[in-house]
Amino acid sequence: MDTYLGIDIGGTGIKGAPVDVAAGRLIQERIRELTPQPSTPEAVFEVVRGLAGQFAWNGPVGVTFPGVVMDGVTRTAANVDDGWIGLDARDQLSQALGVPVTVVNDADAAGIAEMRFGAGRDRRGTVLLLTFGTGIGSAQFYNGVLVPNTEFGHLELDGHEAEHHAAANVREQRDLSWKQWAHRVERYLRYLEMAFSPSLFIIGGGVSKHADKFLPHIDKVRAEIVPAALNNDAGIVGAALAAAAG
Ligand code: BGC
Repeated sequence: MDTYLGIDIGGTGIKGAPVDVAAGRLIQERIRELTPQPSTPEAVFEVVRGLAGQFAWNGPVGVTFPGVVMDGVTRTAANVDDGWIGLDARDQLSQALGVPVTVVNDADAAGIAEMRFGAGRDRRGTVLLLTFGTGIGSAQFYNGVLVPNTEFGHLELDGHEAEHHAAANVREQRDLSWKQWAHRVERYLRYLEMAFSPSLFIIGGGVSKHADKFLPHIDKVRAEIVPAALNNDAGIVGAALAAAAG
């Protein structure tokens, strides 16, 4: 079996599991730790090392990061410590773990997994995957090919950065009902639809398992909208797929 360890670093949690990359599924139950605060690279490396240790892992590892990643270097850090900006995360994580590490944006990883094994399978044209969590992540595909680091969560909408208005944690912090939150998401999807004309939106992140609570309130979007099929494991699976791709 071709297995890679997938680790998904988020603003709130860090989770990982070994993944069978041919089948696109976790082969052991995932382990989740809280993201250290402050989320400095050193503190996060320590958690990542701990996770690899708990799985007694000594093969290649794929790691997601909640910011722009270009050639292994983390370029932005909206929801983690600024120490990540300009860091050669691939190189440093490879040294910290003593194994080859691939680093990829978290939403791009979730998108890669959903396009291969989940809700985006065999879908052509423009597909937008959005993850709603601590921030909003985006992954854009055209005929199955990823356009990396799109960062649509930072688009400005009605005078707000979209992720400050419609991320999942905004619903919790402002105590919005699912319906109120759904209207914010709908406004955002309509904006993206105007700009990119996707045929499919895939909604990922922790909210994907509650799709029945908010999707019924979204009816003014032309494109099909579906929850991520791999739920919140898409990032872990995508991280492993990125590692397998080298
Ligand atoms: C970051 C993105 C990330 C998203 C979800 C945003 O704040 O800029 O890179 O994909 O949060 O974690």
